[in-house]
Amino acid sequence: MNDPRPPRGEAALRGLAGEPVRHDSAHLHVAGEAAYTDDILEVRGTLHAAFGLSRRAHARIKSMDLSGVRAAPGVVAVLTAADVPGENNVGPILHDDPILAATEVQFYGQPIFLVVAESVGAARRAARLGAVDYEDLPAVLTIEDALAKQSFVIPSVTLQRGDWQATLAAAPHRLKGAFRIGGQEQFYLEGQVAYGVPGEDGDVLVYSSTQHPGEVQLQVAHALGVEAHRVAVECRRMGGGFGGKETQASHPACAVALAARATGRPVKLRYDRDDDITITGKRHDYLVEYEVGFDGAGRIAGIDLMFASRCGFSADLSGPVNDRTVMHADNCYYLPAVRIVSHRCKTNTQSNTAFRGFGGPQGMMAIEYVLDEIARALGCDPLAVRRANFYGPGRDVTPYDMQVEDFVADRLFDELAASSDYAARRAAIRTWNATSAIVKRGIAMTPVKFGISFTATFYNQASALVHVYTDGSVLLNHGGTEMGQGLFTKVAQVVAHELGVDFDRVRVSASDTSKIPNASATAASSGSDLNGKAAQAAAAAIKMRLVAFAAERFQVPPEAVRFAANHVKIGDLKRLKFGELVRLAYLARVQLWASGFYKTPKIHYDPKTLKGRPFYYFAYGAAVSEVAIDTLTGETRTLRADILHDAGRSLNPAIDLGQVEGGFIQGMGWLTTEELSWDESGRLMTHAPSTYKIPVASDVPADFRVKLWERGENVEDSIHRSKAVGEPPLMLAISVFHAIKDAVASVSGYEGTAHLNSPATPEEVLRAVAAMTKRQPVPA
Ligand code: MTE
Ligand code: MOS
Repeated sequence: MNDPRPPRGEAALRGLAGEPVRHDSAHLHVAGEAAYTDDILEVRGTLHAAFGLSRRAHARIKSMDLSGVRAAPGVVAVLTAADVPGENNVGPILHDDPILAATEVQFYGQPIFLVVAESVGAARRAARLGAVDYEDLPAVLTIEDALAKQSFVIPSVTLQRGDWQATLAAAPHRLKGAFRIGGQEQFYLEGQVAYGVPGEDGDVLVYSSTQHPGEVQLQVAHALGVEAHRVAVECRRMGGGFGGKETQASHPACAVALAARATGRPVKLRYDRDDDITITGKRHDYLVEYEVGFDGAGRIAGIDLMFASRCGFSADLSGPVNDRTVMHADNCYYLPAVRIVSHRCKTNTQSNTAFRGFGGPQGMMAIEYVLDEIARALGCDPLAVRRANFYGPGRDVTPYDMQVEDFVADRLFDELAASSDYAARRAAIRTWNATSAIVKRGIAMTPVKFGISFTATFYNQASALVHVYTDGSVLLNHGGTEMGQGLFTKVAQVVAHELGVDFDRVRVSASDTSKIPNASATAASSGSDLNGKAAQAAAAAIKMRLVAFAAERFQVPPEAVRFAANHVKIGDLKRLKFGELVRLAYLARVQLWASGFYKTPKIHYDPKTLKGRPFYYFAYGAAVSEVAIDTLTGETRTLRADILHDAGRSLNPAIDLGQVEGGFIQGMGWLTTEELSWDESGRLMTHAPSTYKIPVASDVPADFRVKLWERGENVEDSIHRSKAVGEPPLMLAISVFHAIKDAVASVSGYEGTAHLNSPATPEEVLRAVAAMTKRQPVPA
């Protein structure tokens, strides 16, 4: 940052912290040369596996005849629950998630047996030949049914503050309602895949496409019934994870390890897309109910929120996901008196899991919906109501008792409202709608405040290893994983910055449980916060030794030794190349590698009461979206989006912008086109891109103005004062949903409100338009 830029433009960038250096694998991505798990050259004798899946949502397995599977061409082995030597479970918190169902199946698509064959095709064809005799059991398929039957994966949680009941009753205005928020398939481009290679004496090496190699290692060890030191897990990169590979990569990994153990040969398992969507969990869908009391300016006095989410058949990460919903139901707003109830519904469907935002987006959707309803009931601009409720002096404590010390959403709002010309465009849209009979436009502006840190405090730790070789090149390893988000690039920049060498001199090696033990998942957006600090500490330790060595060798005070631009300045007279100093230090027997460790300070949290300071800081953003809807077909299009996002002092503005753009578009998909649909038997019907519609390039707003907030800076001592950026931008897309809601409201000349559920698919928009034209009365 402080270095003068070399003359030849971007390619010659140093790549220190803060510079928009390219992704470290960009040239490999575009050439198709970046190696993903399925690209690893197969060891001689490699076999391929496929799961045999349940064809019932809930049933007892009366008997199973797998003779047809065993006799199928190319089949080498068939494993069932009885063949698991250790623990038949991949549940990360509760032990309620079998690798292979033993006596009971709990969702349509649950793995029951594993076929191992000479080819992928042979394994997949044979997997269809299992004859399973089921005795159907009653299945719970909806949130409503689960609520009625009190079917929960873990107990419900209530967070409250103040006398919400009395405050609500006393408020000048009240509103009550309910709406739904749909789930979302992660749709990482690279599906779940693992490759297990047996070693000597019971060791196994598993290549896994996982956000959490340490977790996969432990799950594999448990499944095999061996100690963790016999299992190594490696991941060079993922073709996307988005939360879907935080826990659910364990399943294929355990399968290949079991198969490798059983056959003594390397085994690979790659879900095909339909199986992937059928087997794995997704973002939780929610039913939300609310009652809110407010004043004439739309300022909330008291609110009662009920969240009920579909968790699927097992707990997986549903506890922390739903906790995060509760802790993001305030978004940027002060809720003086509040009750939030969270039910974690057990249903006979896929076990829902992490997805970018980890429950936070659903919490934010709820409060944004309520504020929009308040504005429409009062007949004022939703932007004014949002502003009126912002955190501020004397109104700065969250429902979970954390003081908001770094609030900047108000400043982002003001800047973006001005730069996007919100007020004039809103007025122009209203005029335009008055004369446009069929196509209607809408506009909305929404803010984001997202808490950064794992709510499970112990996860907020990281380790790194930095090696300096005698030629001055640097090898970096840390516990984080690369899934396209640019973590490896950012952490390499931190190390380059610390050692004063070019980015190109720092190579990042694959995530590997043999190098960094007990690493946390790369999740909660905290990858660069945690691993950046750990790597910085490791690099600083080496630098300190080099400084001490140079000071002694050249008889200067340590302060006179300075590292920059691939050189080391020693006093005013001497200047050595970095590699030269390293070589001298090596000959003098100075240790040239170091480990670094970091744990996030200040955070604490009681998972029982949901109170504390779960987050080190907050990341903020704001977005204005303008849409057009066709009131005859229900189609929608986002015409323009303006985004201002706070990445603090960005470690890499190019990569961070990519995260903001990608997150926003992924959020748009969640709220507009991506719809999961199960039939009456509990079978997921939308298990391929033909029926499950993710955004494509043509869905990107034609006018897309994305900026990082130049004045952004972390008030906390984060890595180079940057802010985490992986998840928060997804929630900027809530502005798109509300712009659609605004367009629907125009159908009745903005009298009344559109009861729109998410996703706002064409069908849902049409339904809402139809309801609107019946001119529903404004709630009192
Ligand atoms: N970006 C890409 N390209 N691919 C991904 O899979 N995952 C998101 C986000 N951005 C993801 C992504 C999620 S869910 C998280 S938690 C963060 O990246 C994780 O990485 P970080 O902590 O390094 O930001
Ligand atoms: Mo991200 S949902 O925390 O993997």
